[in-house]
Amino acid sequence: ELSPIDKAKFVAAKRASQYVEDGMRVGLGTGSTAAWLVRCLGEMVRDDGLRIKGVPTSSRTAMLARDVGIEVISLDEAKWLDLTIDGADEFDGDLNLIKGGGGALLQEKIVATASDQMIVIADIGKEVESLGAFPLPIEVIPFGWQTTQALVEETLISMDVLGRTSTLRMNGDVPFVTDEGNHILDLHLNRIGNPRQLALVINQMPGVVENGLFIDICDAVVIGYGDGRVEVRD
Ligand code: A5P
Repeated sequence: ELSPIDKAKFVAAKRASQYVEDGMRVGLGTGSTAAWLVRCLGEMVRDDGLRIKGVPTSSRTAMLARDVGIEVISLDEAKWLDLTIDGADEFDGDLNLIKGGGGALLQEKIVATASDQMIVIADIGKEVESLGAFPLPIEVIPFGWQTTQALVEETLISMDVLGRTSTLRMNGDVPFVTDEGNHILDLHLNRIGNPRQLALVINQMPGVVENGLFIDICDAVVIGYGDGRVEVRD
């Protein structure tokens, strides 16, 4: 028996799997909700003879996809994708997102941007009126990361955006390392007034590789509820 939250994630993933058609090249997201989707697609490959090529957004997802029998190819082999389905940490009324809670935002953004369509799957708890309660992940290169952090903080404090501070994401006692060999700063912003502007400002800074704001990338959100209901916003 699934807990309400897992049930919500599962039903959203299950519904979103209906968007996947035979022959598609599909971007496979990262995180616990996306993992349900990958398992659903694996079943469809095995039981219904669905033929797809999957482009994973992390080493974790690549491993899971192979485990469940999905043919995995690289983004450069695929060149473009019909559809990407991924989770999110927050989504707002404009279908803008915060992603990267799982640390895979860079590959996720590259893959989503290379897709004709991006569908987010999420439990209703991810819905927000304005983005920013969830700390905004920023991927930074290890070289001079403390200098980059200081620059980010100074800039955002001067813009009156940074609520408290930023923290280096840890993995036990050592800095977390992404699939691309970078670190993650989590920005505690509380509320992001202008996500589009913030995303641009952050990405201008040397040392920053990418940020977790997904603006105008998502086409629809499939929302799952703990009682098994599903709702689609687009
Ligand atoms: C991974 O880097 C994130 O962007 C995930 O999509 C996000 O953290 C959602 O994860 P859950 O589905 O586990 O909540």
